[in-house]
Amino acid sequence: MKGLSWLSRLAGGLVRLEGRKFTSLKRCQDDHFLTPSKGESALYIHIPFCRQPCLYCSFHRYQFHEDIARRYFRNLRTEIDLYLDRGFRFAHIYLGGGTPTVMMDELASLLSHLKSRLGGAVISLETNPSDITSKNIALLKELGVGRLSVGVQSFNDRLLKAMGRTSHTGVEAQEKVRLAQGNFETLNIDILYNLPDQPPEVFRNDIAMVRELEVDQVTFYPLMPPLNRGDPLPPSLKPDNRCEGLFYKMILEEMYDGGYQPSTAWCFSRGRMMIDEYIVDYGDYIAVGCGAVGFFGGGLYANTFSLDRYSHMLEKGGLPVALFRGLSRSEASRYRLLTTLFGMGIRGDGFPRRFGDSPSNGIQSLVGLLQFLGVVECDGEELRVTAGGMMVVSRMMREFFSALNRLREYCLRYGI
Ligand SMILES: C[S@@+](CC[C@H](N)C(=O)[O-])C[C@H]1O[C@@H](n2cnc3c(N)ncnc32)[C@H](O)[C@@H]1O
Ligand code: SF4
Repeated sequence: MKGLSWLSRLAGGLVRLEGRKFTSLKRCQDDHFLTPSKGESALYIHIPFCRQPCLYCSFHRYQFHEDIARRYFRNLRTEIDLYLDRGFRFAHIYLGGGTPTVMMDELASLLSHLKSRLGGAVISLETNPSDITSKNIALLKELGVGRLSVGVQSFNDRLLKAMGRTSHTGVEAQEKVRLAQGNFETLNIDILYNLPDQPPEVFRNDIAMVRELEVDQVTFYPLMPPLNRGDPLPPSLKPDNRCEGLFYKMILEEMYDGGYQPSTAWCFSRGRMMIDEYIVDYGDYIAVGCGAVGFFGGGLYANTFSLDRYSHMLEKGGLPVALFRGLSRSEASRYRLLTTLFGMGIRGDGFPRRFGDSPSNGIQSLVGLLQFLGVVECDGEELRVTAGGMMVVSRMMREFFSALNRLREYCLRYGI
């Protein structure tokens, strides 16, 4: 692991540069690239409201207000209908945020609407521990939610307080996880690490609790700089990237020892592999909602980040797409390679299907280099990320997500 730390810094640096290029989207007036291809894609739905927004959060979210949220949900249905009317079909729907369960009646009518138009798609949904109640669990199951992801962050009260996370305590989070367990095909919990105020023993205790709770799946997020909305950032929220490797080593030791297997470089599952990440499972995905970022038609696009503009554009009958950047074939292949590595590789004969046989896109030589450096192992048409290579891939992914965070910040600053 130690020998690879220089490599993870180098690989992270390269992804940071590439990520900057990727996310330099241009204003776009025309949404012609959003034309369905053959087959089904994934749909990401963004619900950008939280009752108690957390200080550390790097996602696009607003303080919840009922009237604003009701108008938002109405327009979200319109946006989804515009895609369905164009002929898009979705096999997997992922609702993230913000907090998708912030208004259960609106969520229920959105999911019923999707069911009536799409039939049985796989539905994954993010929630906050405070929204987990017996009533909500029953409703979510009835609405077809198969995979539930709960943002726990930590079971340590002192740390939760330092994060400005006041919506639940550590003990309440444990109770809510126990309540939800066994009700969904997959129950995932999110845990944050590399917070400056997080002694390694506190993190080890968090992992011990994950193991004690025997959750199906856990996703460990390395802290990324929160979205700067003009408030000074408390020192307890400035990540120190030099410590990341130490925490990651602990994750690997404890997760393997607890019988978990990686399904992505951040996510570990017990028993059957259950990959929840739509960006890993699907090459293309459509993203709807204010500030949602999608990958489709050979490029990256973003909806407007302004709640007002989002509603106005839809109420005038158009899609709320604000930015787009077409990727060259080799850029698109490198993006796919990154998501493939994040998903721990490709089994079977997936390599030619995902990248084609042509060496001209440079992927074969990149894979050869990664193999030489010990990040991946190749066996015929299979590609596997090695245990040592996982830290490198984790760092690459953090840099890519950080580039998306910078894009969010830019859009918010310039009112896009
Ligand atoms: C979009 S949030 C939705 C979860 C839900 N709203 C909750 O907080 O319970 C998904 C996950 O992103 C992670 N996250 C949020 N801000 C982050 C940051 N600055 N760096 C790394 N991960 C972050 C958290 O672990 C969170 O659970
Ligand atoms: S972590 Fe979850 S609850 Fe907190 S602000 Fe972000 S999306 Fe909202």
